[in-house]
Amino acid sequence: MTSQIKWNEFHKKSLQEKIDFLKKNTHLTKEEFTLLENALSFETANNMIENAIGTFQLPLGIATNFKINGIERLIPFVIEEPSVVAAASKAAEITLPQGFTASTDEPIMIGQVQLVNVPDAKKAIKAIEASKKKLIDSINDPSSTIFKQGGGAKNFEAKIIQTTRGECVCVYLEVNVQDAMGANTVNSMCEKLAPLLEELTGGEARLRILSNLAVKRLARAKAVWTKDNLEKSFKGEFTGEEIIERFLDCYAFAEADPYRAVTHNKGIMNGIDAVVIATGNDFRAIEAGAHAFASLTGRYKPLTKYYKNKNGDLVGEIELPLALGIVGGATKTHPLAQMSLKLLGVKTAKELAEIIACVGLAQNFAAVRALSTEGINRGHMRLHANNIAVMAGAKGEQIRKIAEKMYEEKNVKLERAKELMK
Ligand code: HMG
Repeated sequence: MTSQIKWNEFHKKSLQEKIDFLKKNTHLTKEEFTLLENALSFETANNMIENAIGTFQLPLGIATNFKINGIERLIPFVIEEPSVVAAASKAAEITLPQGFTASTDEPIMIGQVQLVNVPDAKKAIKAIEASKKKLIDSINDPSSTIFKQGGGAKNFEAKIIQTTRGECVCVYLEVNVQDAMGANTVNSMCEKLAPLLEELTGGEARLRILSNLAVKRLARAKAVWTKDNLEKSFKGEFTGEEIIERFLDCYAFAEADPYRAVTHNKGIMNGIDAVVIATGNDFRAIEAGAHAFASLTGRYKPLTKYYKNKNGDLVGEIELPLALGIVGGATKTHPLAQMSLKLLGVKTAKELAEIIACVGLAQNFAAVRALSTEGINRGHMRLHANNIAVMAGAKGEQIRKIAEKMYEEKNVKLERAKELMK
């Protein structure tokens, strides 16, 4: 992996120059680079989902300048929205040379077994708790890989839940799923546990499924954006102090107003989803868990927080559930997911979660940094102009020329692009 200095200006290289640069500076093989042309065969797609009729391609880009826990990472983004990759790269650049620090909980996922028509719910809870060790031993498989690696069912809690159809008993099963996202492992364990609970309580099992509210599998990241770096990032248009005060005004608003907090968190998920998709993970599960976690206090809140440290620099932190895998599912079946994991250089799901938490923090910082100063459009529209030029039929060098002209005129519109085409 090369030094940060050489990664700057990556976006100004031609595609071939980018590929040549990656060939020289990463361990990707020649075959892996051919995947970039056409990765997913119809046959593979047809084995991934039902009724497949083809594939739907999205842009794959690389966010640069990320240094996480002292390691430089190239981060693959799958996303259709302009300026997201640029923004993340810019945010990461402004953290250098320190970069980000990140950590995660143990990979504990929660499974739920719902029991209805339990004759005596209080008695059932006592019986379940009294049989905890036996029940857990019955659903663990000592010969399984996950168990041998220290994973498997670890604990559970039984609760009485009042529903509109009367009370039910729910067992919240905690499973260490190691480097898997864990849905299959947890669901299988819940299905094994259900009949044992029915026998113990006289109830009838209904739901046996994992919860996407993975509050025991949180990831955290932190970064410091210094006054000097911030001032330099705007080429002197604002002082570092001004940027930080404006930034904190916007953050305080997100804390106080759910309408703003939702968009604030959408900005975070722009980056998070892009890497989750690039690595073949389930972004719906991540999204559901993240937004539920943002509401756990009873009010929908930002997933990040910002404050000034004693030097007056801006500190940003993020904390959210990130149930990610690097084994199983599309992480294994999609060739580009494999390539993305190799490009990231991750060896564990923990590392992947740390990186993705940093990306979410960076993405949010970039958006609020722009919104609180120059406005989102200056950066966003400059990159969106490329899309408008393409929509007007521009090709090759024409795209950049027309995009730059419209940007200079502050007239990034399809009609203008078509006029310029003529
Ligand atoms: P700039 O100052 O014009 O960029 O910012 P620069 O030319 O000074 O370049 C600085 C660095 O930015 C570059 O370093 C790159 O790392 C990166 P270099 O390699 O030059 O040494 N960069 C780029 N990377 C790839 N391709 C590019 C590119 N340009 C710069 N073309 C920038 C331009 C867009 C980065 C800035 O204006 C910005 O960060 N804007 C924020 C845009 C944003 O956040 N977009 C995300 C989608 S909108 C969104 O999140 C939804 C929202 O509603 C969320 C919310 O409300 O909170 C806004």
